[in-house]
Amino acid sequence: MLNSFEDVLNEAVQCKKCRLWESRTNVVFGEGNLNSKIMLIGEAPGLNEDREGRPFVGQAGKMLNETLLKAAGLERKDVYITNVVKCRPPKNREPFEDEIDACFPYLNIQIQFIKPKIIITLGNIATSTLFRKFNLKLAPMNQIHGKVFNVSTLSYGSIKIIPSYHPATALYNPRVLSLMVDDWKQIGEIIKSFA
Ligand code: URA
Ligand code: SF4
Repeated sequence: MLNSFEDVLNEAVQCKKCRLWESRTNVVFGEGNLNSKIMLIGEAPGLNEDREGRPFVGQAGKMLNETLLKAAGLERKDVYITNVVKCRPPKNREPFEDEIDACFPYLNIQIQFIKPKIIITLGNIATSTLFRKFNLKLAPMNQIHGKVFNVSTLSYGSIKIIPSYHPATALYNPRVLSLMVDDWKQIGEIIKSFA
């Protein structure tokens, strides 16, 4: 019987529920402010994350910390950050659906424990996963980024899901970067309304 967030973390760091355990160095469970109203969900750990056991510590993390969170008036310590799958897929391929499903119970517990009011899905994998779990109708990112999708369930309460592009996209696409900065400015405005 698991009865605390720490128990779940301890279980996750030894997890072998899908094939991704075989190639990982470290499980990247997630980190940040457990009392935050804002949860960020990325895709999967990359090379640096796998080495350090922490989410978004490479170039995409730098973009997130220094440009996107800043546009919303936020810092890393203000949010909780995790990924759809907690182990790095080989050569950074996209996680397969059976891996996402095997790992989802951890995300489920993270959402239930942290009780975020806002979930920002970073990129297509996080967006499609959350939309599937909440029975929302998925559309291409250029049609849904920065929009607010209100969901309400018994176990999660009311949450605003806001999809945006993956921070790594901004590293090589300046046009998308400016769209993302606009999304994050708007996220900042929405957060103010909760304060
Ligand atoms: N990309 C992700 O989706 N997650 C990370 O933690 C790092 C890069
Ligand atoms: Fe377990 Fe998730 Fe890692 Fe798969 S990706 S081994 S389900 S922690």
